[in-house]
Amino acid sequence: MKIIRSIREMQQYANELKMSGKSIGFVPTMGFLHEGHESLMKRAKTNNDIVIVSIFVNPLQFGPNEDFDRYPRDEEHDILVAQKNNIDILFIPQVEEMYPNDRSITMDITKRTDVLCGRSRVGHFAGVITVLTKLFHLTLPSQAYFGLKDAQQFAVVDALVNDLNFPIELVPVTTVREQDGLAKSSRNVYLSEPERQEATALYQGLQFGRQLVETGTRDPDYIVNEVERFINSQTRGKIDYVELLSYPDLTPVDEVNEQVILAVAVFYEHARLIDNLIFDQNGKLTLDR
Ligand code: PAF
Repeated sequence: MKIIRSIREMQQYANELKMSGKSIGFVPTMGFLHEGHESLMKRAKTNNDIVIVSIFVNPLQFGPNEDFDRYPRDEEHDILVAQKNNIDILFIPQVEEMYPNDRSITMDITKRTDVLCGRSRVGHFAGVITVLTKLFHLTLPSQAYFGLKDAQQFAVVDALVNDLNFPIELVPVTTVREQDGLAKSSRNVYLSEPERQEATALYQGLQFGRQLVETGTRDPDYIVNEVERFINSQTRGKIDYVELLSYPDLTPVDEVNEQVILAVAVFYEHARLIDNLIFDQNGKLTLDR
């Protein structure tokens, strides 16, 4: 496995790979790699000649009161995980090189961000599309892999790729869960033991909401209220939001008669957890694979 830290070297190398006809699969990450990331790597390995994984904790996507400094980092562990998954190139750029002081361009998003996490994390998705635009230019992938746990991120990146004509196929990958259903996340390490036990309420609440649709309920407000009630009865975590929206447009629906996302975010003392399910009007999961 080759570890590249310089932007210039990464772009030159990707260019050479492209010129020699190799397909490149790209897995962007912020490190602290877990099984969720490994499932992205495995998918990328089966579909591409070369797989590039990037590790970059992107300061632009953290708000002033968010956990940029505290975000868990463990490069040694990440290198081992990448090696174990036979990754070809690990790209670890430095903040100073990615964001020199004389930048003049900022990116803006006009849809898909005023709901769910975008509502409380102002500027977050602008930071995500900025870094991805740079990373896509540096790694030149034909396919890029994203976990569906961050389904709003997937919807926003889908808009980025379509609106700005990136020649990249986005591949959504099913959320990897612990045995009790909790979605794997780098932030789960911040949960206390009792919080960890109760955090299963997110997935159970989502399943409860999906089952309501499965058994014929179509009213989004009713479903959202029931899911909130369920989650509140199972955990002392504080609900940030429960929302049901069209997917991937992320607009309100009058009734569930198309592909929708049911999404939740819950605050615990040192972590804010998110989770979602995407399903059709019959409650059948649609993007999971
Ligand atoms: O999902 C993440 O880890 C990040 O948002 C991403 C896509 C690597 C961009 O920084």
